[in-house]
Amino acid sequence: MSVKIRCQGCQKVYRTAEGEFTAIGDATLQIEEGQFVCIVGPSGCGKSTLLKIIAGLDYFTAGEFDVRHGESRDQPINNVVFQEYAIFPWRTVLENVAFGLEMRGISKKIRTEIAREWLQKVGLSKFANYFPDQISGGMKQRVAIIRALANDPEILLMDEPLGALDAQSRLLIQEELLKLWDETKKTVLYVTHSLDEAIFLGDEVLLMSANPGRIIKRYPITIERPRSINTMNTGDFTRTRSEIWEKLAVEVGRSMANQQ
Ligand SMILES: Nc1ncnc2c1ncn2[C@@H]1O[C@H](COP(=O)(O)OP(=O)(O)O)[C@@H](O)[C@H]1O
Ligand SMILES: [Mg+2]
Repeated sequence: MSVKIRCQGCQKVYRTAEGEFTAIGDATLQIEEGQFVCIVGPSGCGKSTLLKIIAGLDYFTAGEFDVRHGESRDQPINNVVFQEYAIFPWRTVLENVAFGLEMRGISKKIRTEIAREWLQKVGLSKFANYFPDQISGGMKQRVAIIRALANDPEILLMDEPLGALDAQSRLLIQEELLKLWDETKKTVLYVTHSLDEAIFLGDEVLLMSANPGRIIKRYPITIERPRSINTMNTGDFTRTRSEIWEKLAVEVGRSMANQQ
C-alpha cells in the first residue's frame, strides 16, 4: 500500500476583517491508496476547509502537505462532490455524467458510452435525457457521485454529499456508494456529520476537535465487508458508535459552548 495523502501539522489561518482566525489548528493524517476514510467533527471545526485544501482549492498556512500522484498523467487528481447538488441544470443527466470526460477532451462517442455505463450501475438509464429539475434530490446526488467516478479520479473527495437527503434515500445511496467503491477501489476522503454514516462507510474514522480543528483520534473500523443496512444493528457497530460518540460528544459540547 502506498500513502496517497499526507498532512503533518497542517494549519489554516484565515485573515479576516476582525483579525486572524485559526480554522485548522493541527491536521495530521495519512491516507493509504484505496482507503475509505471518513472525517467527523462538530459543525464549524474545519472539515470543509480541510477538504477544500486537499482538493487544491485553497492552501494551508503552515505544515507539510503532500498528495502523491499515480502513474497516469491523464487522470484528474481528485474530484469533489459537495452537499449541494453541484450538477448543471442546463445539461441533461447524461451530459452531466459525461462532463469531466468532455473537459478532458474525450470523444463524444466514448464519453457517452462511459456515462451510460455509470447510469446503468445506479439504475438511472431511463433518466439519461432528463434535466436535473425533472428528477428527485436522491437521483441528483447519485448523478453527482457517478459524474465524479466516471471521470476516474485518483482521489474522490466528498463533503457531506448525502446531507440534504431524507433518511431512506440516504441509506440506499450509502449502500450503493459502497458497491461502487468496492468495484473501483478509489481512495475516498468523506466528510460527514453523521457518525453512523462514517462507521458504515469507512475503513477508518478520523475525529476532529471543536475549533480550532485538530485531528484528535483515529479509529480503524474493522467491521467486515460487504456491509449492508443490517450491519448497523450488529454489536460491533453499536460498540464502535458508543466508543467514538463518547469523544465526539465532548467536542460537540465544546463547539456549542464556543458559539454562545
Ligand atoms: N474564507 C473564510 N474566511 C474566514 N473564515 C472562514 C472561511 N471559511 C471558513 N471559515 C471559518 O472556518 C471555520 C471552519 O469552517 P468549515 O471548514 O466550513 O467547518 P465545517 O465544515 O467543519 O463545518 C468556521 O468557523 C468558518 O466560519
Ligand atoms: Mg462543512
